[in-house]
Amino acid sequence: MRLKEMLRGTVPEESLVKLPDGYHVVGEIAVLSLAPELEDYKTEIATALLNQCNHIHTVLNKTSRLEGERRVARMEVLAGTGNTITTHKEFGFIYHLDVARVFFNSRLGSERMRVAAQVRAGEDVLVPFAGSGPFVVPIAARGARVVALEKNREACLWLARNARQNRVEERIEVIHGDALHMAKLLKMDFDRVVSPTPYGLDQIAETASQMVKPGGVLHFYTFKKRDQIEALRRGYEDMGLVVMQCRRCGNVSPGVSRWVFDMVKS
Ligand SMILES: C[S@@+](CC[C@H](N)C(=O)[O-])C[C@H]1O[C@@H](n2cnc3c(N)ncnc32)[C@H](O)[C@@H]1O
Repeated sequence: MRLKEMLRGTVPEESLVKLPDGYHVVGEIAVLSLAPELEDYKTEIATALLNQCNHIHTVLNKTSRLEGERRVARMEVLAGTGNTITTHKEFGFIYHLDVARVFFNSRLGSERMRVAAQVRAGEDVLVPFAGSGPFVVPIAARGARVVALEKNREACLWLARNARQNRVEERIEVIHGDALHMAKLLKMDFDRVVSPTPYGLDQIAETASQMVKPGGVLHFYTFKKRDQIEALRRGYEDMGLVVMQCRRCGNVSPGVSRWVFDMVKS
């Protein structure tokens, strides 16, 4: 039964229409984003969710947007154990992380697999903004050597653990550092750079492009409105990149989507 149907009779109809259809699941944790109108009913909503889903041990509510450099929202515990550490399984890979302290978007699993599937054994790959490793681990599992750059120290620790958990630690170098300085930090160029760029850091595209060998590939993620895409494409081409593909991979707010540009350096 869907959450809305379970709550009919408990939550008034005028509030029920504000209930989101979906929620975000990371491992055994469900993350809701409840509208302020649902404040009085949040415990009932979370308890219904907990009762409906046997695999969920904690229900959280996002009380802010993603914020700060770590790109993590503030969360309140609505029901369950309150433990924010979980184990998420994605296409056979296992990720341990603390959802309250490290960014993780479980809706990007297929996109990560799409990119990993293009990687050939022996490639040198750079992943700035690596988080707890959901791009890094599957790419290393393809036989690539991966340099993972991440500014959140806790994310680096989870990433190192996830590399061991998935038995790819020998092919991953985790660097706790600022991706904005990657050209100075890393004295090499790469066959492929995968940049899951946080909101507002688009200026990194030029540096990311410099890190790619001629003939290599840059997968660059950015948050944009559809009518901004053509100008962006021209800007990347002016940097010496050939856009092979540009596709939407998720909505982030009304009118704004996450886009990925797959580009080859000429
Ligand atoms: C959009 S998340 C992507 C995380 C991960 N790749 C994933 O898909 O789950 C951005 C990540 O970049 C990190 N970050 C933000 N600013 C950074 C910077 N200047 N240098 C390195 N990492 C940074 C954040 O801590 C966060 O883990």
